[in-house]
Amino acid sequence: MSEDNKFIHMSGGVSSANCHVETLKIKALAEVCKLIGRAVHLDTALGRVLQVLHDILRMERVTLVLLDPGGRKLSIKSSYGLTVEEEQRGIYGLSEGICGQIFQTGSPCVVPDIQSEPLFLNRTGARKNIVKESVAFIGVPVQVEGSSVGVLTVDRLFGPEVSFEEDISFLGILATLIGQFLVLHHAINKKEEKLVEENKSLKAELHSRFSRHYIIGRSEAMQEVFWTIEKVAPSRATVLLLGESGTGKELVARAVHEASPRKDAPFIKVNCAALPENLLESELFGHDKGAFTGATAAKPGRFELADGGTIFLDEIGEMPLLLQAKLLRVLQERQFERIGGTRTLSVDIRIIAATNVDLQDSVDQGIFRSDLFYRLNVVPLTLPALRERRDDVPLLLEHFLRSSNKRNDKEIVLTANTLDFLMDYEWPGNVRELQNLIERLVILADDRIIRLDDLVGHMNQIPRLRREIARPVALIPNSTTIASGGSPSSLRDMECQEIETALRRNGWVQARAAKSLGLTQRQIGYRIKKFNLTRPEFAG
Ligand SMILES: Nc1ncnc2c1ncn2[C@@H]1O[C@H](COP(=O)(O)OP(=O)(O)OP(=O)(O)O)[C@@H](O)[C@H]1O
Ligand SMILES: [Mg+2]
Repeated sequence: MSEDNKFIHMSGGVSSANCHVETLKIKALAEVCKLIGRAVHLDTALGRVLQVLHDILRMERVTLVLLDPGGRKLSIKSSYGLTVEEEQRGIYGLSEGICGQIFQTGSPCVVPDIQSEPLFLNRTGARKNIVKESVAFIGVPVQVEGSSVGVLTVDRLFGPEVSFEEDISFLGILATLIGQFLVLHHAINKKEEKLVEENKSLKAELHSRFSRHYIIGRSEAMQEVFWTIEKVAPSRATVLLLGESGTGKELVARAVHEASPRKDAPFIKVNCAALPENLLESELFGHDKGAFTGATAAKPGRFELADGGTIFLDEIGEMPLLLQAKLLRVLQERQFERIGGTRTLSVDIRIIAATNVDLQDSVDQGIFRSDLFYRLNVVPLTLPALRERRDDVPLLLEHFLRSSNKRNDKEIVLTANTLDFLMDYEWPGNVRELQNLIERLVILADDRIIRLDDLVGHMNQIPRLRREIARPVALIPNSTTIASGGSPSSLRDMECQEIETALRRNGWVQARAAKSLGLTQRQIGYRIKKFNLTRPEFAG
């Protein structure tokens, strides 16, 4: 039996104290294992582990020093009982001080408080001289696959009834657990990095195939738009965005900014139609204190705010003539004065303007300056109306359906017929109309399926039914096509026949007919009433 063991078993009192220590150890280890098992964030988990050592084992000071990712120094990763300054000071060279020594030698160490010389336990003969009460500090290496990655140190651990060897062996177990946790964390991090990379490249692939800069479209017309954005973005050239309302002019303006070297500088939008002339002037150019009644303080204008970035002048066709002259000067010289100010300000801005009116027509009418028009028209980019790129409709529908479903926590789908109809629709409000329609339908839907007649009352334009009439298709997927005999004369007739056939086939049991059509009982009930369908006398 070793000297130390003899010491431990000297009396019954000590033995029962020892029992208590064992219980504490097991409790602490169990807590630490639990923490590590649940850990998500390394720093928080390590902090909690050290907290457990304090709470259960009453250690006043515990520190965990780890090797920096660069492998050049050791710094305190987590601690308990240290002040912030003390923690920040805890950076060591790889062989500096006691921590450095433990790290280098990979051996535990105890420091007696009466002696300044640390006693490394791999030194022969050192153990025998240690008096337990004099131990002030114990440190053990944290190792991963046989190499040191850090050092765990505590001030004194258990009382005199427990040998310092036991202290060290207990700390060693903790250090092993911490080492395993670090390995696990490293592996998880690597895996996460790989997934993030994979996700990025998948996104990039998707992005380049069907959309760029969050603009969706694979039609030829949109490919040309993407091409122009990429060509023009790196320069400071003024861009004039043309196209009907809702075609994505603002989206493209932002995309040009985002793809330009100015992307980290501001993108400032001004709607020229939203403000009366004098307010618009002050908004654009700013004003000095006292420039007009109410100008109690100087205010920078949007041109100043956009310095270094991009200014987007939306609805430029609505800009009053007086301001058009002032804008022309900004375009030519990039200079202006605040209202009421004398100082000439210079700005470095890129100008993007947009309009859905025919500017040439406005020039002809004398309401738009021709010199400004030519200055703005350096790179004109006309966004195609949605009806001119119908092949993008399914892609847009899918995109907005997915995002509306997600936002509203639903799983709404469209029937093939609804899709057909929307493909044929004129879309006078373009992508905005499509986006709003889908959001509305998703919010209002009380069934999982959106059918053609759910659209009634939601479209800006009376549905063009010609193609639908000429092409008798099932209104609802899975149901049979129109009953033979007599060609239907309208969409309404088609639907009426569809319902009647289903009822007939199901012996006029509404629930069964509804099920066969994928309708709810309420929906079929509503349609039966609408078409005034009654069960014929002779029906079985
Ligand atoms: N190709 C597209 N892909 C995805 N979303 C789009 C696309 N085009 C437009 N949108 C969306 O449609 C809506 C209207 O677009 P935007 O505001 O850019 O149109 P606009 O041309 O500026 O219209 P207006 O002339 O009425 O101001 C926005 O929510 C925008 O995100
Ligand atoms: Mg707009």
